[in-house]
Amino acid sequence: MVPADAAAIVGLLDPIIRAGGLTAMAPGTVCDQRAFIAGLPPRATYLLAEDMRGTLLGIQDILPIPGDGDCDEGGEISTFVRLGQHGRGIGRGLSDASFAAARARRHRRLFATIRADNPGALAFYRALGFRIVERRDGPPLATIRATRVLDAIGA
Ligand SMILES: CC(C)(COP(=O)(O)OP(=O)(O)OC[C@H]1O[C@@H](n2cnc3c(N)ncnc32)[C@H](O)[C@@H]1OP(=O)(O)O)[C@@H](O)C(=O)NCCC(=O)NCCS
Repeated sequence: MVPADAAAIVGLLDPIIRAGGLTAMAPGTVCDQRAFIAGLPPRATYLLAEDMRGTLLGIQDILPIPGDGDCDEGGEISTFVRLGQHGRGIGRGLSDASFAAARARRHRRLFATIRADNPGALAFYRALGFRIVERRDGPPLATIRATRVLDAIGA
């Protein structure tokens, strides 16, 4: 992912945000996204999936959770697949690649924060091996915290 991808990312995210009920994210500008990419910390993973024509189909990031020195506090994962392209294995494909990258970056655990009223995302993370560890009732939103261990190659 490079700052030049920012416009395509905003074009993918905006309809998902405006659809409602899927993410707590607020609409952002291309400049916001460029700044986000430029400011990614070391050990961050931010991958995209494109079709053969270069149309962006999905994005996934794993951001290191700030820890104490060498202690790995794990990574926070987010996934967005273009509306109209769900259920075709794009999220699974991104996750296979991201998990490999996160292992290489010595993360041992991943966390996801999911809107409690987003059953599709909950089912997706469950299918990836996450288990629910916490429910937070907001405000502003009820969210589910899910986690999975990432310690073995191929796990
Ligand atoms: C959630 C999301 C990322 C899933 O991506 P996707 O490309 O549609 O998912 P895939 O087709 O790769 O499915 C992967 C697995 O999750 C399961 N899954 C995905 N969406 C599901 C749904 N709505 N209901 C049930 N299971 C689902 C699939 O059955 C599949 O299982 P399998 O690999 O064991 O067969 C995508 O639907 C999306 O972007 N949603 C809107 C944004 C969002 O909610 N993001 C999460 C924010 S926390």
